[in-house]
Amino acid sequence: MIFVSNAGKEYRRGRWALRDASFSIEKGEFVVLTGPSGAGKTTLLKLLSFEEKPTSGEVRLESFSSRTIQRRKMPYLRRRIGLVFQDFRLLRDRSVFENVAFVLRATGSGRAGLHRRVSRALAAVGLPGRGNAMPDELSGGEQQRVGIARAIVADPFVILADEPTGNLDEAIKKEVFRLLKKISASGTAVLVATHDVTVAKEFRARTLVLDKGKIVTDDVRAASPSPARSPAVHPMRRSEVRA
Ligand SMILES: Nc1ncnc2c1ncn2[C@@H]1O[C@H](COP(=O)(O)OP(=O)(O)O)[C@@H](O)[C@H]1O
Ligand SMILES: [Mg+2]
Repeated sequence: MIFVSNAGKEYRRGRWALRDASFSIEKGEFVVLTGPSGAGKTTLLKLLSFEEKPTSGEVRLESFSSRTIQRRKMPYLRRRIGLVFQDFRLLRDRSVFENVAFVLRATGSGRAGLHRRVSRALAAVGLPGRGNAMPDELSGGEQQRVGIARAIVADPFVILADEPTGNLDEAIKKEVFRLLKKISASGTAVLVATHDVTVAKEFRARTLVLDKGKIVTDDVRAASPSPARSPAVHPMRRSEVRA
């Protein structure tokens, strides 16, 4: 469902932020992307969200390819990618409900359907009935839950979270990771970029490690066993990483 093959990104001539990345992620997988600051984590997420085009190689998401995607298909694709940010990026002058409903309004989703979907997303992140609150009335952890509700509301192919716990306290960090993992268990692939390695270890997640733009580890073994992670389903992964 996500398929990255020899993808590289050169922002400026001769300076590759990402080199020769190859891996795939299945539906329902929870994957942590880690590595020091400047390693290329955000760049990789931008390629996966089609915000940036790879300079070399290819990124595929469902039936879309970075090589062939048409500009007019972009808005549709974007809506099916749930982004979660370090600084939450909520609209401060709109209620929690409106923040979550924003994407659906853009798609012209019917009124009844919209209400049901927003309520369901808020319940899924543990904020049922908080739709009328304004973002500033919420704690940081709660604001990030709203960010996650916004990311899941349009039934995304994948959730891409870039340092989602960077602005949160230690105890809240774990809650956010737990929530993202729970969301992946319901079938959406989740990729979380974080420079915090300890959390990844604790969650026994499959971990991709980036260093200076190279994927140096794709540790499937770190993840808890699951039939979806059997080598037969991922014939590409290990060999490509070593290649
Ligand atoms: N838009 C850009 N233009 C030029 N260089 C960039 C741009 N974005 C990131 N870089 C460079 O690419 C490298 C990887 O950055 P980034 O993907 O943000 O890493 P990380 O998220 O792991 O900290 C860094 O050297 C950074 O300076
Ligand atoms: Mg980053």
